[in-house]
Amino acid sequence: MCGIVGYVGYQDATTLILEGLQRLEYRGYDSAGVALLNGQGIQVRRDVGKLSNLRAKVDSNPLHGHTGIGHTRWATHGAPMERNAHPHVSMSGDFVLVHNGIVENYLELRAELMAEGVRFDSDTDTEVIVQLIEKFAHNGAQGDIVEATRQAVKRLRGAHAIVVMSQVQPDRLIAVRIGNAGGVAIGLGDGENYIASDIPAILDHTRRMIFLESRQMAIVTAQDVTIETLDGQAITATIHDVPYDPISAVKGEYRHFMQKEIYEQSRAVADTLGGRIDFEHMQVMLPDLNLTPEKAQAIQRLVIVACGTSYYSGLIGKFFLEKIARINVEVDYGSEYRYRDPLIDANTAVLAITQSGETVDTLAAMEEAREKGALLWSIVNAVGSQAMRVSDGYITMNAGPEIGVASTKAFTTSIVDQYLLAVYLGQLRGTLSESERRAYVEALPKLPDLIGRALESAPQIEHLADLLHHCQDFLYLGRGINYPVALEGALKLKEISYIHAEGYPAGEMKHGPIALIDENMPVLTITLKDALYEKMISQVEQAKARGGMVIALATEGDNFIATKADQVIYIPETPELLSPIVAVIPLQLLAYAVAVKRGADVDQPRNLAKSVTVE
Ligand code: F6R
Repeated sequence: MCGIVGYVGYQDATTLILEGLQRLEYRGYDSAGVALLNGQGIQVRRDVGKLSNLRAKVDSNPLHGHTGIGHTRWATHGAPMERNAHPHVSMSGDFVLVHNGIVENYLELRAELMAEGVRFDSDTDTEVIVQLIEKFAHNGAQGDIVEATRQAVKRLRGAHAIVVMSQVQPDRLIAVRIGNAGGVAIGLGDGENYIASDIPAILDHTRRMIFLESRQMAIVTAQDVTIETLDGQAITATIHDVPYDPISAVKGEYRHFMQKEIYEQSRAVADTLGGRIDFEHMQVMLPDLNLTPEKAQAIQRLVIVACGTSYYSGLIGKFFLEKIARINVEVDYGSEYRYRDPLIDANTAVLAITQSGETVDTLAAMEEAREKGALLWSIVNAVGSQAMRVSDGYITMNAGPEIGVASTKAFTTSIVDQYLLAVYLGQLRGTLSESERRAYVEALPKLPDLIGRALESAPQIEHLADLLHHCQDFLYLGRGINYPVALEGALKLKEISYIHAEGYPAGEMKHGPIALIDENMPVLTITLKDALYEKMISQVEQAKARGGMVIALATEGDNFIATKADQVIYIPETPELLSPIVAVIPLQLLAYAVAVKRGADVDQPRNLAKSVTVE
């Protein structure tokens, strides 16, 4: 989950590395560090907390050089303290390293190295890697950093992304990827080259990238990039031209990235739809899925794997895929899937939903599916990410970079992708009549406008946040296709405002959670004018009868609800299947407004990281 940047070339490495880390700070902000080579040995600056602390340190004690590595940390082993911050230097001071991942056997390796006289400066698992590299460089590898790294990484268990630098061979950086501890992109320049865990870190400088696959190593100098397997076999790597608009990664008029991303959703959803609807024939086109009617008809089951917000998106997708494409769908947490010997065969399609395309649990679930012979698809936002590369077919979210740690536009755009997928599968499988298909497709272009109208609830939500931001607990209730929206609303609130919130299927309230309700417990009900409206009204009554403060999310024109609930937030009438995309908007705005009023760090909430690349 940590962010990594490396540079070798002719420019000032510190400036480029700090700039790159700034773009990656959402990946971890427990500490940050940079190491440079400038003919006077390895120079390191590190500090705890945000990157601004490291910047201040570098300003007061500057570092100059043309080769360097940097890191922003999300702590796993070892508390967020300066001595645990990366980069870590080997005992003799010859080697320095940054790392993303967990060394699962680090205790054993540490004991072994200590018995050989190695002294450790940190509590991290990472330090064993640099000490191992030094050990092999001094014994057997004749000081060669490539060979020493190769030998060292063979001793590691777990998944890793590593960049190593040495004052013994100062012209090169060595990058290694093993498993799915986050990506390693090599950015190609002219007389300079870059390394980064995520492409936004270096996209201002180059769009030409090589992505390391698992068990590959890159030897990167200013003039040259060589890719090899860990056994030393040369590889001809594909160079990707990465499309990306750096302007959209800037906050602009907004106070926080999350706020910007909430407001971008009309545009994002329009981009998700762009080029995928044939308006002449009113049908969906998803060529990147690489699907034929025969393959589509052979599918008997679809399993969606995802984590967090993407998992909730999958719960909504299940409704579309079952109703429109008539496929039996299961939704599973990426982190649980491979621990239960899932039933998969060649007639099972596995769909991973992942904004980053690098979430290790989702990637591991995909690996399991691949090994068992499933057809493997992904819905991803990060173009070129691992999830996209390992899939047989994919659908991009086209949401643009999502920087705020709390996911917003990836939620809505991935729901749209699943709706497109359902219609597309319905077309190929012949489960849709012409009129049904037209009706499903016709609903889509209205979405950007409906989202825009839901965003108009912002001033009212500001007012609600004034009333609610001191509360300690919240309950979100929804039913049917909007039950996952209740889950997502609660997740947004808890992750950025640190208020305890639970999402619950409204009909289950009477089986337990109703005991929690009193006058201190706001209950947000998703009470839209749909097939379950009357059932939801009775939940509102039940909550009111226990003294709860009910905030109802309702459909414009529903005056009745105002006689029942304490507060009503209206959204425009939306076809039931698409209603989660519009209903979630006020809930995102509410979480945001409450968090701002509580003075929370909205874009970088405590303990979280944008891309979770550890298990
Ligand atoms: C919540 C959030 C997380 C992510 C989850 C999966 O706001 O952002 O729950 O949704 O970590 O991330 P991706 O979609 O990148 O696999």
